[in-house]
Amino acid sequence: MKHLIEKIQTFALKQTGESMPFVVFAPGRVNLIGEHTDYNDGFVLPCAIDYGTVVAARLRSDQQVTATALDYAEQTVCFDLQAPLERDQNAPWSDYVKGVFSVLLDLNYPLNGLDIFIAGDVPQGAGLSSSASLQVAMTLMLNETAQLGLTAVQLAQFSQRAENDFVGCQCGIMDQLASAAGRVGHALLIDCRDLSIEAVQIPSGTEIVIVNSNVRRGLVESEYNTRRQECERAALALNLPALRDADDSDLKTLALTVDDRVFRRARHVVTENARTLASCDHLRAGALDQLSRLMAESHRSLRDDFEVTVEQIDILVDCIDTIIGERGGVRMTGGGFGGCVVALVPKDLVDDVKSGVLDAYQKATELDPSIYVCRASAGAHVVDSPTGSNHTKGYHDA
Ligand code: GLA
Repeated sequence: MKHLIEKIQTFALKQTGESMPFVVFAPGRVNLIGEHTDYNDGFVLPCAIDYGTVVAARLRSDQQVTATALDYAEQTVCFDLQAPLERDQNAPWSDYVKGVFSVLLDLNYPLNGLDIFIAGDVPQGAGLSSSASLQVAMTLMLNETAQLGLTAVQLAQFSQRAENDFVGCQCGIMDQLASAAGRVGHALLIDCRDLSIEAVQIPSGTEIVIVNSNVRRGLVESEYNTRRQECERAALALNLPALRDADDSDLKTLALTVDDRVFRRARHVVTENARTLASCDHLRAGALDQLSRLMAESHRSLRDDFEVTVEQIDILVDCIDTIIGERGGVRMTGGGFGGCVVALVPKDLVDDVKSGVLDAYQKATELDPSIYVCRASAGAHVVDSPTGSNHTKGYHDA
């Protein structure tokens, strides 16, 4: 995070003659288990990671906003808070900024004009929530500059609404809530129905290893929205509010009443919710062998029933599984269709995983993987603020 702040402040100083008084940070996330369950009111187990987005800003005396993305060739967009906000095809990154303004303005929060600078280090398009981290950082910046007093859950909800209503992806709440509420050294068991959060410690001696397949993700949004509709059809067929409420006997009913594809989508969600709850118990007990089994089942279910993996991701998972066996767990993570796998790896096997993956994955796919050994990190927090408000303590204990 430090290097991002330095980069932004050096740039801002050059552009404006001063460094920015407000600085906030929001992390990306990796999901350990509980995939495609959040929008079914189910359970997820993500943690915030030590990669994220820094947003720095100063107040303006008018209702104009300028936003500059250092990672996009220092592109700047300008907009007026008194005019309707619209998406910008020439600067898609700015939709995440405008989306947050748009949601808060719709809710009649009084917002200030701002000069904004943005830089991040979450690998983009890798399923590690670079966009959620930008949205949450933006919401936190508006919360701080306008003293709105939002809670961590509201930060996440408003950020999600920006993605749903302004950007147009019908994502669930997991990414934004993990980014807003992360805890150092812990994963978060989130009940996506009532949004309650329980922190679950990552066993000491275990590293979180993320491997990016570097497969270019395609059709993600349309496939994602289709999966969501299929899940809703299954819940409707059962006359239930959401698949969270379905159990094994409901699956038997579904097998007779809906087409095979919708049935398999539902089977994934029902079994994944059970695996997620069981995984928490095993994580608490440090029972990596049990976690290993559940992560493997989760991956198979996402591959065969939910059909969101790609061949290269399956190769990566097999390759890491061969190295760690029952001593750790590995599965795809995030929305799917490329992106990353996550592995919980005992410290003494991390180097073997790194070298094994570099060699085998390259040979099998002719792609170079990127490997990140991550720390479960704190959620969004204010780094600098002239208001000196209580919010500077961060949100991870909310
Ligand atoms: C994406 C979405 C999340 C969640 C995951 C799948 O990351 O943004 O809300 O649905 O996919 O678990």
